[in-house]
Amino acid sequence: MEFSIKSGGPERARAGCVVVGVFEPRKLSSVAAALDRVAKGYLTGILQRGDMEGKLGSTLLLHDVPNVACERVLLVGLGRDGEFRDKQYREAVSAAIRTLNATGAAEATLHLTEISAVKRDITWRITHAVTVAREADYRFDRMKSRREESPPALRKLALGVGGKSALRPAGLGLERGLAVAHGMNLAKDLGNLPGNVCTPAYLAEQARELAKRYRMKAQVLERDDMEKLGMGALLSVARGSTQPPRLITLEYRAGAKDSKPVVLVGKGVTFDTGGISLKPAPEMDEMKFDMCGAASVLGTLKAIAEMKLPINVVGIIPATENMPGGRATKPGDIVTTLSGQTVEILNTDAEGRLILCDALTYAERFKPQAVVDIATLTGACVIALGHVVSGLFANDDALAKELVAAGDAAYDRVWRLPLLDDYQEQLKSNFADFANIGGRPAGAVTAACYLARFAKKFKWAHLDIAGTAWKAGKEKGATGRPVPLLMQFLIGRARKS
Ligand code: BES
Ligand code: MN
Ligand code: ZN
Repeated sequence: MEFSIKSGGPERARAGCVVVGVFEPRKLSSVAAALDRVAKGYLTGILQRGDMEGKLGSTLLLHDVPNVACERVLLVGLGRDGEFRDKQYREAVSAAIRTLNATGAAEATLHLTEISAVKRDITWRITHAVTVAREADYRFDRMKSRREESPPALRKLALGVGGKSALRPAGLGLERGLAVAHGMNLAKDLGNLPGNVCTPAYLAEQARELAKRYRMKAQVLERDDMEKLGMGALLSVARGSTQPPRLITLEYRAGAKDSKPVVLVGKGVTFDTGGISLKPAPEMDEMKFDMCGAASVLGTLKAIAEMKLPINVVGIIPATENMPGGRATKPGDIVTTLSGQTVEILNTDAEGRLILCDALTYAERFKPQAVVDIATLTGACVIALGHVVSGLFANDDALAKELVAAGDAAYDRVWRLPLLDDYQEQLKSNFADFANIGGRPAGAVTAACYLARFAKKFKWAHLDIAGTAWKAGKEKGATGRPVPLLMQFLIGRARKS
């Protein structure tokens, strides 16, 4: 789908379809009212007959509206204007795109972007219209022998903005929206690929390709490099697999030379069987998504590179499978991490923290201004927060606040959970410095507490995306989260530096 920005009223547009909003109950938005005046009350007549209440997400397609140049007018229900917020705006846009794709219109002008009831500026409205439209179009049919559905009908979408003065901020929104959408699509594609295709080597290849295309620097460590460095925890997870592990670093430097980088660390377990602490069979296929943290790092780097965002960012991805095998790590085994601290592995299924802890220690060498790790880390986080918000933990209040605000603005929300020292007791080991599990209570918290022991030298936040990185059930598939949040966060940081 191609996007453009358009200022000017809906009545003169010649596009295949103009899209305008209707509030509940039966109240035309201002652009719809302008159209109605040209059409001599035709839209008012339709509302009076009771054909369009304005319920959020409802649509009504009209043909040959009197005095209007274009072939079709699509009315989209917005719900009550007093309740019209971010979520409602996004749902209305999504409903419009889905309906347009089901009509014959190849072109349309969307005037929902002009609705100020949403209380967001024009840059925000355009950014979100573009990402929502792109999301409605997303298909993953790469692994099918032939395409199942025909491609979406809508090819060109113009986004309406009121006056000419809005063109510049709207252009910025368009650029951001496209970058976020492209980053999300990469993250979704990598997540959706099966474990036999998306291996640690495959992720490394993707990083190298990004580096080539956007002039970033990629570095890939192999097993013997990790051995030399002493990454005993990461290596212990890889032992059971015949797929060799990788430690991928991708550096994007477009900020000031002396500005410290933001480091993003993404969990890249390309398949998590649990290892010797084997997972039960039902839904185990979903553990191909256990690299969605890594995918979000690659997606975010692609997006900031596409935008040429003036900032320094380093992505670090520990990538491995977690498999049972003759050489696999056994419960009770003790390993020495890159930090020198020793860990008793009481459950080989708590592998995410084992690969992340060495990656966090490795992050120190980049002298980061902040480190954010992103991981499908615990089932406990899904129990605590469901599929709505991601779990947030941080050793710095300002960083936590910044991420919460970025998540709100990006509609990719997070909720902070406690990272209190009191929970550290649960990680006590009789044989090593500490254990890799803390029992059933507060499982998401003890996982974060484990990571905190490796993040003492910098400002750090941890995002547990176990409940938000993919959807299960009929619509099974990766969501591309938290690319929007990370983008918003980095845009904010770029402005500051
Ligand atoms: N990748 C899983 C976490 C997960 C499970 C994410 C289900 C989404 C859905 C992680 O490696 C894991 O297995 N965690 C264990 C930790 C436990 C052994 C302390 C878990 O959550 O059960
Ligand atoms: Mn696991
Ligand atoms: Zn895992």
